Formats: sequence, C-alpha cells, structure tokens
Amino acid sequence: MKASTFLAPLLLTTGVYSWGPMGHATVAYIAQHYLDGAARILTSHLLSGASLPDIASWADSYRYTDGGAFSQVFHYIDAHDQVPHKCNIKMERDCPPEGCIVTAIANYTERILNDDLSFSERADALKFVIHFIGDVQQPLHTENLAVGGNEITVFWGNESVKTNLHAAWDRNIPETLAGGSTIATSASFANSIIQDLETGIYSNLKKDWTSCGSIKRGIGCPKAWAQDANKIVCSDVLPNGVEEVQNKDISGAYYERNKMIARQQIAKGGYRLGLWLNKIAKAEQLKCRA
Ligand SMILES: *[C@@H]1O[C@H](CO)[C@@H](O)[C@H](O)[C@H]1NC(C)=O
Ligand SMILES: *[C@@H]1O[C@H](CO)[C@@H](O)[C@H](O)[C@H]1NC(C)=O
Ligand SMILES: [Zn+2]
Repeated sequence: MKASTFLAPLLLTTGVYSWGPMGHATVAYIAQHYLDGAARILTSHLLSGASLPDIASWADSYRYTDGGAFSQVFHYIDAHDQVPHKCNIKMERDCPPEGCIVTAIANYTERILNDDLSFSERADALKFVIHFIGDVQQPLHTENLAVGGNEITVFWGNESVKTNLHAAWDRNIPETLAGGSTIATSASFANSIIQDLETGIYSNLKKDWTSCGSIKRGIGCPKAWAQDANKIVCSDVLPNGVEEVQNKDISGAYYERNKMIARQQIAKGGYRLGLWLNKIAKAEQLKCRA
C-alpha cells in the first residue's frame, strides 16, 4: 500500500493501517506461545520486559512520526501485477531502492543480531520484525492495485459504515470474526487459533508455512511469505475484479467467504513469527559461543 501525501493523515484519523491493533496483538500472542526458552529471554531483554502483544503495533505509530517516516514504505510491497488474472511479486519491479516489507524483514532480522548496533537500535529492529511478519500476511499489503485496496470504497453493514477494502481486511473482517477490536479480544482469538494449530484445522498445514528455511537466506522467507499472501489477492480478495466489491456492502456473503482466509493468514503470521524468533535466538546463542 503506497502512501500518497494526502492519504497519510486520513489513515491516521480513521485508524486504518495494517491489521488493526487487535490483529497484530493476535499474531503476537500466537508467536509468544511458540517461543522457546532462548527466544523468551532474548525478547524479554530487548523489549525491557514488555510482552510481544504490548509492542506489536508500535511500528504503526512510529511510521507517522517525523523520525519514523522513513519506515512507512517498509509496511508493504506494491506488486504491479494484473489482478485478478495474474498475481505475482517481482523484487526488481515491486521493491523500490528505499525498500519494502520483504527487504525490511531481512534487514531488521540481521539488525537484531548485529552487535555493532546500540541496545535501542536492536530493540527497534525486534519491534519492526514482530510487526512486519504480521503485515506481510495481509494480502492487500502485497498489492499495488488501488493503493492496496485503499481506494476501493466498500460499506460494512449499511450505508452509515463507509470504509475501503484495505481497511476491511485490516480490521472489519478479523474484528467481526474475533468479536471485538481490543487487545483483550486478541487473547481469546489467539487461543482459538492456537488450538487449531495444535490439534485442529491448521495442525497438518503449519509445517509447510515455515518450509522456506533459514534466517540466513536473507530475503528468502520474507519473499516467500509475500508471494503467499499476494496469491490470495487473485484467488480470494478480488477473484472477480474490483466491480464485485466497489461501493457494495461486503459484510454479508463476501465476509462469509473470506473470514477463514483472514483467520488463516493471522495464524500463519503468529506461527511464522514464533519460529522465526526462535531461529534468531539460536543464532544469538551461537554467536556468543563463537
Ligand atoms: C535497515 O534499517 C536501517 C535502520 O532503521 C535503515 O536506516 C535502513 O534504511 C534499512 N535498510 C533496508 C534495506 O531496509
Ligand atoms: C447502520 O449501522 C449502524 C452501526 O451498526 C447502526 O447504528 C445504524 O442504526 C444502522 N442504520 C440502519 C439504517 O440500519
Ligand atoms: Zn503496519
């Protein structure tokens, strides 16, 4: 999702940016469940005792500060593909020199482990990774069309709730499914997803979700995750093109069709983040022994 100059203040006032705080906290709760001992110690140290859900939306406040404006472009990748006919990500085409979510995840992963940086730089790197591994699962964070769906007007419920397709995926769909928008809601939403990861509908799928490999592969995993989310733009978000949703109420059949897709993306985010942080903690330990 590209930020045009007029859009940033609009996004701020309507609270529209990436999964809402509820979605990001859910990803963080799930990840926390999967942290091993070393990752618990490392994250608690770098976050000065704060929990993952506490800081999961920090990057969305920071991007709108003067000092954090540079990080705006790191929340997405603008795939210039041909929805709904062909969805794909090409780094040379879609990730500009200033960066995108794919290079940002690789960069901040490396920075968590970089001893030449200050404590606060490494802490920020961790907070970015926790946030961006959530964002990269949101299909419309991997799409250029209509500013990642921000310019596709939709209604939620009735004419009084006018929003846009990007915001509907960030908030309306997951928050309707979870039954609220608060951090407290995210804890119970996360628990139901963890159950599905352990013994339910995701238990046989989750191994594939982390098959992209090592943190040492640079953009390998973040690119695979972005491609995974981008495919969903063609298959589920806009399979019939923009006309199907533009100026329509999407809280009925569209919501029913997509709610489990959104939930599964949040499940992937939590599981991928948890195991990613374990790998970072492992690399940190090996570094100490070397
Ligand atoms: C890596 O992170 C630093 C610190 O925030 C930032 O200045 C730099 O632009 C980032 N590089 C990439 C490629 O994202
Ligand atoms: C539209 O939805 C809002 C929020 O749910 C509600 O307060 C309002 O009464 C509804 N209006 C109509 C005409 O149904
Ligand atoms: Zn974000």
